Order: sequence, then structure tokens, then C-alpha cells
Amino acid sequence: MAESSVIVAIDGPSGTGKSSTSKAVATRLSLGFLDTGAQYRAMTWWMLANGIDVKDPVAVAGACDKPLIVSGTDPQGPTITVDGADVSAPIRTSEVTAAVSAVSAVPEVRVRITELQRTIAAEAPGGIVVEGRDIGTTVLPAADVKVFLTASPEVRAARRSAELKGKDAADVAATREALVKRDAVDSGRKASPLAKADDAVEVDTSELTLGQVVECVVTLVEEWKRRA
Ligand code: DC
Repeated sequence: MAESSVIVAIDGPSGTGKSSTSKAVATRLSLGFLDTGAQYRAMTWWMLANGIDVKDPVAVAGACDKPLIVSGTDPQGPTITVDGADVSAPIRTSEVTAAVSAVSAVPEVRVRITELQRTIAAEAPGGIVVEGRDIGTTVLPAADVKVFLTASPEVRAARRSAELKGKDAADVAATREALVKRDAVDSGRKASPLAKADDAVEVDTSELTLGQVVECVVTLVEEWKRRA
């Protein structure tokens, strides 16, 4: 890998601005970008499309080496395919969102997807920004810069609802409930839970604009480059 190559891990729960921040940082610094949640969603989409019972960890474990999941790492046009088919839209449906925590809690799924993630990170020319839940703790514990984004449940639910374009109060309340539930499963699972690495910098994004969060992460990367 080139001398100036940098690996940036950005973890945190949903709705904290991980994707927007990671894409913007990668674009600013000419790095690759990997949305690891999209890979777990792609695996979940494939399970549902193939009639696998996502509540049965044995069935999920037995099938998880079948789909070929390929991620494109251009931050301005990230792609994700399963067996050659573009799944960037179907992996965002509520059906997939409701099932993804169960599928991603299966250890065999995590082993398979972690392997993909490590290969992509190792091969990224110049470096990469990898966003997820366990990147700084498990997938890339030697990452050069680690950031853990947080935000209040209210702010996260409002952001997610805006993304989903359902903006009335009931939608926000329902989204908040679903988010808190998904975070609880993601944080409570045995295999590689959502967690802040001891050496990650925690940034509470509740009161910050996207531009401010991006600036903060870019500064951390630049500081690392000066020290490297
Ligand atoms: O970031 P997202 O909402 O698209 O992620 C979808 C799910 O994938 C999330 O509920 C937990 C799981 N996930 C994970 O377990 N580990 C990661 N590194 C990324 C996502």
C-alpha cells in the first residue's frame, strides 16, 4: 500500500450521519468508501428473495456463503450487486430493514462479510473510509483514524424519517421506536456488537451540521497524516 494510504473507520448507530459523512470525507480526501451496512442488507435481501427463514440462524448460517456480494467503492457512486444484479434500491425496503439485525447477528454471516470488508480495505488504492458498527473494534482494529458518531434518538429518528420522506409526527415516532429496537439488537448481540473502540474519537452530531462533522473528521485524518 502507498505510504500516504489511510484507513478511516466510522462507526455508530443508524441516523447519526455515518453514510453522508463517510462519503463526503472520502470525496474530499480522494479515498474509497465502503458502506458495510449495505453488505449486510444485500445478504438479508438475498435470504428473503430465496425463501430462507431469517429467524432461523442455522438456515441463515448454512446459506450465507452462496450469494456473491460485490461493493463498488467510488464515494460519488457506490454500488452493490448480488450475483451480478444491482440491489441498491431493494436493500433499502422496510422488509429488509426489519430483518437485517437478525441476519447480521449470525456469526457465520459476520465472518463471511468481515472477510470481504478486509479484502476491499487492503486493496483500496490510497486508502478508504469504511462505515459500519464494528469496523474500529473488529473488522479493522488497526485503522489509522477511528470515529464513533452518536446523536440523540430524537435527532436520529427525524433524520431517518426525512430520508424516508415521511415527515409527520407519527412517522418520526414510529421511526424512533424502530431505530431504538434495531440499535438494541445490534448492540446486544454476541458476535461483534455495535460498540465504540477504546481509541475511537466520539463525535455527538446532534447539534452539528453535516459540514461541521465532515470538517471534524477531515481534521482528524490530516492530523494523523502529519504524525504518520
Ligand atoms: O447502516 P445500516 O442501517 O444500513 O445497517 C444495516 C444493519 O446492518 C444494521 O442494523 C446492523 C448491520 N450492520 C452490522 O451489523 N455491522 C456493520 N458493520 C454494519 C451494519
